[in-house]
Amino acid sequence: MESEELESYRKAGSIAKKVREWSKSMVKPGAKIFDIAEKIESKIIENGAGLAFPVNVCINDVTAHYTPKYNDALTLSGNDVVSVDLGVHVDGFIADTAYSIDLGGKHGKLLETNKKALELVEGMIKPGVSVKDIGSSVYKLITDAGYKPIENLTGHEVKQYDLHAGMSIPNIPVPYDWKLEEGMVLAIEPFATDGYGRVVESRHANIYGFLESRPVRMPEARLLAKEVEARKKLPFAERWYAKKISPLKIPLAVQELIARNVIKTYPTLHEKEKGVVSQFENTMIVTKDGCEVIT
Ligand code: CO
Repeated sequence: MESEELESYRKAGSIAKKVREWSKSMVKPGAKIFDIAEKIESKIIENGAGLAFPVNVCINDVTAHYTPKYNDALTLSGNDVVSVDLGVHVDGFIADTAYSIDLGGKHGKLLETNKKALELVEGMIKPGVSVKDIGSSVYKLITDAGYKPIENLTGHEVKQYDLHAGMSIPNIPVPYDWKLEEGMVLAIEPFATDGYGRVVESRHANIYGFLESRPVRMPEARLLAKEVEARKKLPFAERWYAKKISPLKIPLAVQELIARNVIKTYPTLHEKEKGVVSQFENTMIVTKDGCEVIT
């Protein structure tokens, strides 16, 4: 890896880590998830970095791809398990990290197990290790504790301006044995649940990604397309553009861009049997004999 690239990853990682730790005190009963997401995003930008994706704030069985809508009124209750997933980029080099907090204190073992699964993978990573062994080890640790990993969500390689690049890192046994290589940058994210262990798509989506430029009619749709094209396919949220485009017009603009295949949706994912889900995630660079956790 070029030293400039390495420095960008390290800078993104250190900002992600700092903002993650700073954000934890905001996750408490009565807090609005809109405020949590917007404050984290402002902090990342204040630190001189970019947003790799909209901050996800997922509650209980909501597992991934939920970011607060514009003026989202949803607040945290005292029994929620809350997962916060944030992504920072420096010149497109991404650091992705997540944590869960158990506000009711009833799911401590689930979260501890999930945290141990992440630490287990961090200890295994080095060149030549098979993703098959990683998946089997995560599965064993989580199921031995009486829980299930989410079988259809994986860790992922990241590359410049590419959040899900190349290799996937499974959390269950898999029939293939792709090997890790020095220089790969991996976002490792085991999810654990007391439910079935699988996510399904909801009909709702509030995270989007740019596909390609095409002619559109509505002026607001044109403006939004121009804004999001500049993100080079990194995901975005509608609420980011509420100062530039009338919030009343944004949903219509989004509909037109989806219909014309200018953007795609990332539907909210929730646990198949409404189990409570936790998530812990770090980003790491595979080194000669191990890995460097950058977050
Ligand atoms: Co993440």
